[in-house]
Formats: sequence, structure tokens, C-alpha cells
Amino acid sequence: MKDMADYDALDAEARRILHLNDRGGYTVPTDGLYPYQWNWDSAFAAFGFAQFDLDRAWVELETLMTGQWASGMVPHILFHQVDDRYFPGPDVWQGVGPIPSSGITQPAVAAIFARLIYEQAPEESRDRVMALWPKLRAWHRWFMDWRTDDAGAICVTHPWEAGRDNTPEWDAPLKRIDPQGVGEYTRRDTSHVDPAMRPTKFDYDRYIWLVNLGASVGWDDAKLKAINPFRVADPTMTFILLRAHRDLLALGEALGCDTAGIADEIAVLEAGARSLWNPELRCFDARDVVTGDWAGCVSSASFLCWGAGIDDAETAAHLDRVMAKVQYGVPSHDPESPRFEPKRYWRGPSWAIMNYLIGSGLAAMGKPQADMVRDHTRAAIEHHGFAEYFDPLTGDPAGGSTFTWTAAVWLGWASPNARG
Ligand code: DGY
Repeated sequence: MKDMADYDALDAEARRILHLNDRGGYTVPTDGLYPYQWNWDSAFAAFGFAQFDLDRAWVELETLMTGQWASGMVPHILFHQVDDRYFPGPDVWQGVGPIPSSGITQPAVAAIFARLIYEQAPEESRDRVMALWPKLRAWHRWFMDWRTDDAGAICVTHPWEAGRDNTPEWDAPLKRIDPQGVGEYTRRDTSHVDPAMRPTKFDYDRYIWLVNLGASVGWDDAKLKAINPFRVADPTMTFILLRAHRDLLALGEALGCDTAGIADEIAVLEAGARSLWNPELRCFDARDVVTGDWAGCVSSASFLCWGAGIDDAETAAHLDRVMAKVQYGVPSHDPESPRFEPKRYWRGPSWAIMNYLIGSGLAAMGKPQADMVRDHTRAAIEHHGFAEYFDPLTGDPAGGSTFTWTAAVWLGWASPNARG
């Protein structure tokens, strides 16, 4: 436990990190490892900026939406300028939007933060959010058109789309892919970060193969849906879109926008979310849409249910069980599973952003675990800095450092000075 002067210093350091990573209108996740604008990182950056610079917060979301495709899709990376420290770049992706971009999306957190920031300062924010609302609506509609399965759950079509690149949930569906013709390529991520904290070559070959597949059909949604062997109904995408869709509706009603259809879509997503409950695991889980097989994984994404307004006693029992094994936040994979690796990216580490989404969801539903999730996140950051992610057992910082979204979550939620 530090004293308040220490927390003030950490707040100042978090603000410094946001400025450090600010490239003028958008914020990179961290220099070097991720030198572009990433979709959900950017929405978290807006949350961080909103704690001290409202205008800059709205600019972040506005810049993100400049990358929106005609279909409504908002890409997961916007390549505002070329930087050869990252692979795969715009030449590999061949996105078809208004500015160079990737061809897949990411969890739809932007509307969650648009509502939060608007409610913080409704008068000053009204015009800004009015201009964004139809764009967010079009993006959510695109999800409903192209990413739902028959049950109403939202699917990922590339492991990077859920943001949880190498989570064990993708192991079986990725194993079915033979990455023929992927050829030689040079990874850049492992020159910035210890390879033991990053996905393996097995994973990367398949990531690149899937990028090439999308590019080969010009990212045409219908064509790609017909040929893509990777389609997994995912708790990250489903719970987050459900939460964001509720926020979009509330925001639209407050602003007097045309909200027709949103309530029906929420009902579809609620059914989809419940379809992710694996009766053998007794928990929310990912489901391979191609084979119908469950992943059989308790992951941090399972615990996003409360944010989406869905309570479940058995999932809460899993949360209690995994939290009893760790000290620095919700592990991305079950620490009692043989596939748990505490330092390897999404196969075990604790991520401040997931902790925030889980903790704020628990708090909104009045669940007793909410404070514990926040306290763990606070401890990870106060003892180990603004790392990309943390070993949930030891708190060791892992991945990139001076990380935008960790700083943002600190300012908006984990700091004792945070309002939320
Ligand atoms: C990466 O490059 O590791 C990213 O997670 C892809 O979005």
C-alpha cells in the first residue's frame, strides 16, 4: 500500500505515457512493438484521456472512425503512416477502406466509452457524440450482418479479431488449418519482446495464412465467409458487443437518434450470449462454429458476462476459484489447466483492460468480487508499472512497456483517484 503522493505520481506517469504515445489525433499502444492505431487500444486511450482532456478523448474516437469501411466495419489496425518495425503491414493486409488498414475488426468497446465520456460531460460532448453515433450504429449493424452464428453469438474470423491472439480457445480450430503457401516472412514482434512472451511460429503461420486468405478475395464479407475455415463463436466479441449495444441504445435515446432495431438486436445477442454456456464446463466458453466443438476453456473472456448484464452463479464460482490462485488480476487462462503459461500473452497473463471490463461489469451488477478485481489490478500496476500484461502469479511485467491501455485503465479505474 502506497501513500497518496505515490498514487499522484503514478497518475502523472500514466498521463505522461498517454502523451508519449500520442501521434497527433491517435495514440499507439506502445512505440516499436505496435506503431499504429489499434481499434480497442484506441478506445481505451479515449477513456484515459477523458480523465484530463475531454477534447483529446473525442479526437481519439473520431480518428478511429475515419478508418471505417463502406460496409460499416471498423478495422483493427489503421496504418496512418508506414513503419517497418511492424509485420504484417498494409502491403500484406491490402485493406479496402478509406485509409490503409487491416481487414478484420476488434471487440466493439468504442460505444462503451463513448457513452461513459458523454455522461461525464453531456453538454460539451453532445455535438461530438452525435456525429459519432451513426458510425457506431453502422459498425454494430455490420457485426450483426456478418459475425453472428445461428444462435446469435458473435464469431471471430481471425485470432487477432478477438484481441486474444493465442488463447488456447483457438488451438483446435487453428490445428485444422494447413498453412500451405504462407512462405517466408520475418516477424518483428519477437525483436521487440522476449519470444517466450509471444505467440509461437505455429500460431503465426496460421495468422498470416488467414490474412492472405482475406486479401485474396479483397476482404469481401460474403466470399470470405464461404471459404474461411476459422469461425469461432467467442465470449469476448459477444459479451462486449452486447454491452456496447446496450450503451449505444442508451446513448441514442439520450440524443434522440433513430434507434430502430437495436432492442431486437440486443435480444438476439442475449440469446447468443447464453448459447456460449458450456454445460460440461459449467461456464461460458468459445464454440467452434465449423465443428460445433467447445473449446473447454475457462478464460478471462468467460468473465465478461456481467458487463453484458448476464449473471451466472456457476461462472462466478469459477471466478472465485481462479482468483484464489493468483494475486495480480484475472488470468487470461485457467491457472489449473495444463495449458496455462503465466507469461505467454493470452495463455495466462493478466491484462488491465480485461480486468477493467470484468470488474466494472461485476460492480454494475452489485457482485462482491468487483473490488477484488480492481485491487489486484491496482497492485499489479503500483508494484510493476504500466506493462502490456502481467504474470498473474508474481505480477512480473510482460510484453511491451509504457503501455497506453494500462495507463488509461489506471487513470479511469484502478487509481485510488479514479472517478469510476
Ligand atoms: C499483434 O501484432 O500481436 C497484434 O496483436 C495483432 O493485432
